[in-house]
Amino acid sequence: MSSKKGLELKPNPRTGRYRLISGNWKMNLNHLEAIQLVQKLYFGLRDVDYSFSEISIHPPLTSLRPIQLLIESDRMRFSLGAQNCYFEASGAYTGEVSASMLSKLNVKYVIVGHSERRRIFGETDVVVAQKVKAVLSEQMTPILCVGESAEEREAGQTDEVLMRQVRLALAELSGETVSTLVIAYEPIWAIGTGLVATPEDAASGAQLIREELGRLYGGSVADRVRVQYGGSVTPTTAHDLLEAEGVDGLLVGGASLDAEAFSRIIRA
Ligand code: PGA
Repeated sequence: MSSKKGLELKPNPRTGRYRLISGNWKMNLNHLEAIQLVQKLYFGLRDVDYSFSEISIHPPLTSLRPIQLLIESDRMRFSLGAQNCYFEASGAYTGEVSASMLSKLNVKYVIVGHSERRRIFGETDVVVAQKVKAVLSEQMTPILCVGESAEEREAGQTDEVLMRQVRLALAELSGETVSTLVIAYEPIWAIGTGLVATPEDAASGAQLIREELGRLYGGSVADRVRVQYGGSVTPTTAHDLLEAEGVDGLLVGGASLDAEAFSRIIRA
């Protein structure tokens, strides 16, 4: 991942954890537009911009192969990510894609349990757990999304929801495995709504997640897991969110579709 000496990716000196900034494109851009966006992003970044955070790009499935080839041929310092996969390895599952198919494209990160998948496609905590396992079995890293809805927040259920989602998604995994994961705290009320959580909200979500990890797997596992914040992140809010206690990166939706905005977030 390093091109020039002294510009390798560095861990956050405060936490020892490597930051990860991810662009979740959702169902946007065909493969031609996708290539253009990655090129634009690449030309807009300087070497030093890659030393602070790892950058992962999560395009729709049709763009994975073209972007893989682009990243590899031009030695771009982007990690390839997917937005979802199915948990079975192969078979009669019309319309689905397996974790092993993604890993053959050198996909490194797979978003699992995004609230849009849970809400629109009915993914339960049990399905999310199966997907986490499938991703891990192919040596890729799940970005497990958890977060409370507006109603749950108003009802004072945030703690309970985060604890349940974390516990059920990771059931049966060893502490050693769990320590390699990325968990994205994505309060549903902040996704695509323009309502960005405050740095205090982000810190408190990260803390609740780490506390539950600590209860389940011990403090040293909880300390190693990386926690991202996601939900209406913009270039203006990125810096303070990244500085929030316990936050190791950002999962960016809308703003990652704009090369200029996403590079400003990366530089934040
Ligand atoms: P948003 O999406 O930045 O557009 O709110 C974030 C996400 O859904 O991951």
